[in-house]
Amino acid sequence: MSSSETPDTPDFSTGIDSGRIPDNGIIAGRVGDDEAVLVRCGDSFHVVGAHCTHYGGPLAEGLVSGTALRCPWHHACFDLASGEALAAPALDPIPCWRVERVGSTLYARERLPAPRPRVIAGPALPPGVVVIVGGGAAGLAAADMLRREGYPGTITMLSADDSPPCDRPNLSKDFLAGNAPDDWIPLRPPEFYADRRIDLVLNARVAALDTKRKEAVLGDGRRYPYGALLVATGADPVHLDVPGAAAGQLMYLRSFSDSKAIIARAATAKHALVVGASFIGLEVAASLRARGIEVHVVGPEKVPLERVLGLDAGQFVRRLHESKGVTFHLGRTVGRLDGDTVTLDDGSTFAADLAVLGVGVRPSLALAEQAGLKLDRGIVVDRYLQTSAPDVFAAGDAVRWPDPHTGDNIRVEHWAVAERHGQIAARNILGQRVACDIVPFFWSQHYDVAINYVGHAERWDAIDVDGSLDARDCAIRYRRGGRTLAVATIGRDILSLREEVAMEQRAAGR
Ligand SMILES: Cc1cc2nc3c(=O)[nH]c(=O)nc-3n(C[C@H](O)[C@H](O)[C@H](O)COP(=O)(O)OP(=O)(O)OC[C@H]3O[C@@H](n4cnc5c(N)ncnc54)[C@H](O)[C@@H]3O)c2cc1C
Ligand code: FES
Repeated sequence: MSSSETPDTPDFSTGIDSGRIPDNGIIAGRVGDDEAVLVRCGDSFHVVGAHCTHYGGPLAEGLVSGTALRCPWHHACFDLASGEALAAPALDPIPCWRVERVGSTLYARERLPAPRPRVIAGPALPPGVVVIVGGGAAGLAAADMLRREGYPGTITMLSADDSPPCDRPNLSKDFLAGNAPDDWIPLRPPEFYADRRIDLVLNARVAALDTKRKEAVLGDGRRYPYGALLVATGADPVHLDVPGAAAGQLMYLRSFSDSKAIIARAATAKHALVVGASFIGLEVAASLRARGIEVHVVGPEKVPLERVLGLDAGQFVRRLHESKGVTFHLGRTVGRLDGDTVTLDDGSTFAADLAVLGVGVRPSLALAEQAGLKLDRGIVVDRYLQTSAPDVFAAGDAVRWPDPHTGDNIRVEHWAVAERHGQIAARNILGQRVACDIVPFFWSQHYDVAINYVGHAERWDAIDVDGSLDARDCAIRYRRGGRTLAVATIGRDILSLREEVAMEQRAAGR
């Protein structure tokens, strides 16, 4: 970028009047050729990079809270003084520049060094070896945080996957639609594991945990002793028995390999059957439509996503997909498959040379069960994400934790929550006693419509829709007993962030 291309963008290195920026204000600009934002928190001013390190979200449209800046797209949070990514889904810091004040003029000076790993100063001695079972969102975020916190010992990550931790949300969206190359999908490049001394073992399914001898045992008998262990085994897609389906005809989507296999078959497919009208099924439908494939979505519910988002939003999502050419068969199930012919339970038929099932997931609990960990429709953990076994923590889709916002024990399947769990568990492994008080957050993408959801509402007695779904500008509040439990937004990212902060403050009694 040259200054002649951006005449109206202030260059913070040449000085800017501090009076131009209100408290908690953000001004978009640059430092030389680098896009940057200037942020004011009370009497302090910060110049940091303009783009979130997750998917490049515009931080100028974010929210300042305390001394942190939150990204409008998926609620990552960055420390303004150091640039550190305090909360996932971003894991990498944003750049920061030193700010000098001369009279009322602010100058961005040299770029500050990236945050360095902290020096361990916890009350407890770090365990000699941390074993992480699971190579997904929670596992990777935990390993990353252990090193950021200065943990010097051995980290071994045992993953049943055949590829390193990957950006799972992308597998049903841009990657499946053909808009993201393969190299966007790994969460980290291979050198990350070498540099951080993270021993990543793939195709390594842990068959047993011996919590007395403190060992994880693979199916082939290899044993991994641990000082502390994190169970981050995630969830597995629910499989359906469809009469007539040939071996391998029904495809599921959880891993990078699954997504690549669907893409390979989509290359020649003309008509797709998608079973399941929930988030993953509908995202798959959108991506296959982007490939020009005719898509039929079959689901037993009358309105897609009604159970999670309510009637109005569910009907909107249906209209949106129909406007893109998706055919719904709702209130229906698949009776049988005969080659390329799908027969529904009402006897109607259509052709499909690709069949993808997205009928939900189940927490992956076999290992926890074998180890005798306390279970309740998930691995039961306390507010520090500790399981019922000493030195065994758990994080991500597999856990049910005490949520201070609703007062319920909850289990969710959200990317950012799994990563934040991993980060919290890592710090607790190091003895920091960090309570898990995060506000749940997820997003879902349908064509050019992003739905953001903060909070958690399994049941509600009132829904308020503010704004217009069809105009893609609304907030939907889910209330119980007069209390807002969750808020879904379309086109109102800043409101979503404000609601998140308000929920955090309510839980903290502020
Ligand atoms: C296609 C798709 C799209 C999604 N889109 C979104 C989205 O848009 N927004 C959102 O918020 N969430 C989304 N999610 C959900 C999100 O990906 C999950 O919530 C998140 O991945 C959970 O992280 P996790 O670490 O708990 O589990 P995972 O990421 O599933 O990782 C679990 C890991 O454990 C391994 N494992 C399991 N058992 C064993 C064992 N016994 N031994 C060794 N390893 C084991 C698995 O191989 C895997 O590596 C999506 C999920 C999918 C599949
Ligand atoms: S782009 Fe910022 S959190 Fe995703």
